[in-house]
Amino acid sequence: MCGIVGYIGHRKAYPILIKGLKRLEYRGYDSAGVALISDSCQLNVYKTKGKVADLETFVSQKDISGTIGIAHTRWATHGEPCSANAHPHYSSSGRFALIHNGIIENYAVLKEKLQAKGYHFNSSTDTEVLVQLIEYIQSADHIDLLTAVQLALREVIGAYAIAVMDRDNPDEIVAARKSSPLVVGIGEGEFFLASDATPIVEYTDKVVYLEDEEIAVIRRDSPLKVVNLNNVECPHKVQTVSMNLGQLEKGGYPHFMLKEIFEQPACINDCMRGRVNIEGNNVVLSAVIDYKERLLAAKRFIIVACGTSWHAGLIGKQLIETFCRIPVEVEYASEFRYRDPVIGPDDVVIAISQSGETADTLAAVELAKSRGAFIYGICNAVGSSIPRATDTGSYIHVGPEIGVASTKAFTGQVTVLAMLALTLGREKGTIDEAKFVSVVQELQHIPEKMEEVLKLNDRIAELSKIFTYAHNFIYLGRGYAYPVALEGALKLKEISYIHAEGYPAAEMKHGPIALIDAEMPVVVVATQNGLYEKVLSNIQEIKARKGRVVALVTKGDNIISRVADTVIELPAVMECLDPLITTVPLQLLAYHIAVCKGMDVDQPRNLAKSVTVE
Ligand code: M6R
Repeated sequence: MCGIVGYIGHRKAYPILIKGLKRLEYRGYDSAGVALISDSCQLNVYKTKGKVADLETFVSQKDISGTIGIAHTRWATHGEPCSANAHPHYSSSGRFALIHNGIIENYAVLKEKLQAKGYHFNSSTDTEVLVQLIEYIQSADHIDLLTAVQLALREVIGAYAIAVMDRDNPDEIVAARKSSPLVVGIGEGEFFLASDATPIVEYTDKVVYLEDEEIAVIRRDSPLKVVNLNNVECPHKVQTVSMNLGQLEKGGYPHFMLKEIFEQPACINDCMRGRVNIEGNNVVLSAVIDYKERLLAAKRFIIVACGTSWHAGLIGKQLIETFCRIPVEVEYASEFRYRDPVIGPDDVVIAISQSGETADTLAAVELAKSRGAFIYGICNAVGSSIPRATDTGSYIHVGPEIGVASTKAFTGQVTVLAMLALTLGREKGTIDEAKFVSVVQELQHIPEKMEEVLKLNDRIAELSKIFTYAHNFIYLGRGYAYPVALEGALKLKEISYIHAEGYPAAEMKHGPIALIDAEMPVVVVATQNGLYEKVLSNIQEIKARKGRVVALVTKGDNIISRVADTVIELPAVMECLDPLITTVPLQLLAYHIAVCKGMDVDQPRNLAKSVTVE
């Protein structure tokens, strides 16, 4: 989703802004732009449809001087992707330039009001309305930019992260946030602005995460000033980010997605570090221990999430119900937030989000909080909005995930959910000691078993070539493997644009079986677990209709290999942790099919990494 970058200091702003936009490319976008106040105090705005590289081409030969600037990648909401709708937008007089992430819901009313005052608009965006409104307010009373922004934002309904520059004051950027992330990086006599810390870490590790309705005023060689819409000073905490540049680069892999798939063994180790003991027979999630009374008192857990994180939630439900004997519901955050759900102080809500910025999940958290529920967050992006809105939680610690298709975050989320279920189950006395120790030991072996699966990469790449013809895919699984089937299907459709559906295997005969013919690839998670025999029957039903079966089986399985067209053999894993292994070949399958089809794997069309609008 839209990316914001800003710089003010003593260096040339343009290269910093362009590099920053590239770091934010992973968020997904369709146009890009930059505004600079030049050395001769001109406001230069350059923008174009397409990639940041297209913007660079467009800008070559133009004046890119200046030590202050703002830049933006836009993911279209109001108005098609085109250069007129791209940000930055500027005011009628050409004095103010503004970038915006979010949605101004009452833009139509504001636009009408400004049009009546003689303002003309060059775009169909909600954002242009805001910059015109700022100019209108500023010019009426000749007030300073900060005051004009404060007054304008008081009229705005919606979500925003903005940065505004005034051509007539090249020493200041004013930035504000509400329900859309914004980070200020603090350097020596210079400041950086960005939607997340990735464009900033190259220059400084000192950051301030703005809170809702806070406005930052950043001036060269001056301390950071943060105020609210009523101009009351807000205390702000300077935090240290611990991201390194290597994590933001491809490190020799052709795509971030492949790098992130291969990072999973290390990520799972990082996720367990300090939580599973060295002997490998105990696990402690400190947030669970710190809030154990509240968690143990819960009558019900509700997991809210979207997309891949929702799939992790489905696995979490089985883990928590099995080990803690507490009923768990799993809800799409987008449905939950508008459903007037029955929820109260007896409930614990677990919000799962890689980015920690998903608007629907954040809104679900706020709703549950307002009804007195206790909120536990499971997130990856440190310092993001959801962890800050929750009562407690656990980070998954898998490092920045850049590929739009989530991979390592999913396995990290499942690992945290397993550790949560084990820690709580032990406190509650609903898991016996021998079972507890055996699951912890198995958890410790997951990274090495993942390594084994990753050795299948070449074979899966070969297999993928057969399937580039396919227009449809079905993924099946039962029990713990059902969410894996959903996740496998989601990965394939996101990056290869092949239509794919995941089903619980036994549901097939209630409808989807009508789709099966010799053209239909059916991927079945059929490892040797509780429902193995049942899944075998499901495979036979598919074969009887000439479907083409790719089965994930446990190494040494010689029954399904006689029935399926292709088998992918995986190391044996305890059923409750099997998703951590079976998901990996499905990620690779989706990746290689998309590569064979020549797709933009890391930035698939229409998708955003961080869905900060509803
Ligand atoms: O950042 P979140 O985990 O809250 O994101 C939720 C979904 O938008 C996300 O998982 C999406 O489905 C991914 N593109 C999946 O690969």
